[in-house]
Amino acid sequence: MGNNLLKGKRGIIFGALNPDSIAWKVAERAYEEGATMTLTNVAVALRMGETQKLAEKLNTEVISADATNVDDLNNLFIKSMELLGGKIDFVLHSIGMSPNVRKERHYSDLNYSYLDKTLDVSAVSFHKVLQTARKLDAINEWGSVIALSYVAAQRTFFGYNDMADAKSLLESIARSFGYIYGRERRVRINTISQSPTLTTAGSGVKGFDRLLDFSERMSPLGNATGDECADYCITLFSDLTKKVTMQNLFHDGGFSNMGMSLSVLQQYEKGLVHDEKYGQDSEAKDHSFD
Ligand SMILES: NC(=O)c1ccc[n+]([C@@H]2O[C@H](COP(=O)([O-])OP(=O)(O)OC[C@H]3O[C@@H](n4cnc5c(N)ncnc54)[C@H](O)[C@@H]3O)[C@@H](O)[C@H]2O)c1
Repeated sequence: MGNNLLKGKRGIIFGALNPDSIAWKVAERAYEEGATMTLTNVAVALRMGETQKLAEKLNTEVISADATNVDDLNNLFIKSMELLGGKIDFVLHSIGMSPNVRKERHYSDLNYSYLDKTLDVSAVSFHKVLQTARKLDAINEWGSVIALSYVAAQRTFFGYNDMADAKSLLESIARSFGYIYGRERRVRINTISQSPTLTTAGSGVKGFDRLLDFSERMSPLGNATGDECADYCITLFSDLTKKVTMQNLFHDGGFSNMGMSLSVLQQYEKGLVHDEKYGQDSEAKDHSFD
C-alpha cells in the first residue's frame, strides 16, 4: 500500500528487463506511491525481455533507448516530458553489462574493446544521461537521480572483473555531476550500493550463489532484497531526502562495514574440518580461478 510519497512526480526508469530486475520493482513501487513514469531499455532487451508487460500494468509507455547513445537519450527525455506532461522529477539508472564477464575473460587478460563497452554501458552512460538531461533542462528543481552500484567499487571481489572499475567510475560521476547539477539546479545525484541480488545481470557474476550466501552470512541484517532496494529508492526520490546528494549509500544489511561474522567463521571452520579429512580441493588451489 502506498503513502503518496511520489504523488504528482514524473520519472524515467532505465533497466526493467523482467520481474527480477531491480528497476522493475522500483517502477512498481513508484507507481504505488503515486508517480507517473516512462520505462526505457535498449532495443534487444525490449525484444527479449518483458518490459512491455510492465508498461501495461503501470499504464505507461516504453521508449527504446540505448543508454550509450546521446541521440536516443535526447529523444527519450523529450518524449517522456511530452507524454508525462512536464519536466522529470526522478530518474533511475539501473544498467550494467560487461562483455568480459559474459565471455569469461580473466581480469589479467581483458579484451580492451570489451572493457570500453563495459565502461560505456555501465558507467559513462550515467554521465550521458545527466548531461543530456541538463542540456535539455529536463529535470525539475529538487529532482533526484539514482544509479545502482556495488561494493566491489571499494573492495576487491573474486569474479566481479572489470565491473568493479565501472562501478568506481559510476560512483565518481555521481559526485562530480552532483556538484554541478546541485549547485545550478538543485538536482540530487546519488548511487545506491546494493547487496547481491538474484537478477539476470547478477547471476552473470562467477560464483554468484556462493557470493549471495557469503554476503548473507556476513551482513548482520542479511542481504537487502530487490524489493527493499525499491523501498530505499522511493525515499530518495521523495521530498523527505532533499539534502542528500553526491553520496554512495550502502544498502547492504551492514555488509560493507563488516570484517568477519560468527556465521562466516563457523562455515569456514566446517570447511577446514572437511579439508583435514579429505584434503583441500583442487579448485581452491588453482589461481587461474582468482
Ligand atoms: N543484481 C545484483 O546483484 C546487483 C547488486 C548491486 C548492483 N546491481 C546493479 O543494479 C543494476 C540493475 O541490474 P539488475 O541486477 O537489476 O539486472 P538486470 O539484468 O535486470 O538489469 C540490467 C539492465 O541493463 C540494461 N542494459 C544493458 N545494456 C544497456 C544499454 N546499452 N542501454 C540501456 N540499458 C541497458 C539491460 O537490458 C537490463 O535491463 C545494475 O547497474 C547492476 O550492476 C546489481
